[in-house]
Amino acid sequence: MNQDDLKRMVGKAALDYVEPDSVIGVGTGSTVNCFIEALVHSRMRIESAVSSSEATTKLLQAAGIRVVDLNQTGGLDVYIDGADEFDQHRRLIKGGGGALTREKIVAAASRKFVCIADESKQVGVLGKFPLPVEVIPLARSLVARKMVALGGQPQWRENFTSDNGNWILDIHNLDLVDPVAMEKAINNLPGVVTCGLFAIRPADLVLIATNEGIRIS
Ligand code: A5P
Repeated sequence: MNQDDLKRMVGKAALDYVEPDSVIGVGTGSTVNCFIEALVHSRMRIESAVSSSEATTKLLQAAGIRVVDLNQTGGLDVYIDGADEFDQHRRLIKGGGGALTREKIVAAASRKFVCIADESKQVGVLGKFPLPVEVIPLARSLVARKMVALGGQPQWRENFTSDNGNWILDIHNLDLVDPVAMEKAINNLPGVVTCGLFAIRPADLVLIATNEGIRIS
């Protein structure tokens, strides 16, 4: 199976965690796109969805799924989203697509966070994938200098503006042996909106697509 087949397999597997007629949170990225495709194909009726990005909103609406604002819903039963990396404790790096801030908000509002990924995303220690950090544009250089002090090598994601009107720094070579401490330290820097570490609130479940089928972590 190639990576696209694995993404389709795990997108479909996530349907088992969606209750008919519920309000669900939907993440962003190519694996989530497979989930949306599977949801449409299943003809399961859901009440509505809270979206984590403009791109996902467009896809959901094109599929005839009602998108609602998080301020109009209470807590969500389930949030389905992909990841750029995950470890054995279900801690994640996210934000390769730049949607990390809304993803973190919707994840925080959800009782169950089901992460869907293929096995190539599993790592022993997070950090091979550069860590995305969303910053207020004015603070880009300041945050970059602070990230160097924390041991990383920041790279500005040029020609990219987030859905929130902010910029992204991708931080290479950070030591993420203690991802909870690093998430707190980065999120505490003035000018940082949030970083792509999902360690304080990890996924509750990772569905891992492998050539042998779905593994659950
Ligand atoms: C979007 O900003 C990211 O957090 C995605 O969830 C992550 O990059 C996974 O994307 P793919 O499913 O496309 O690999």
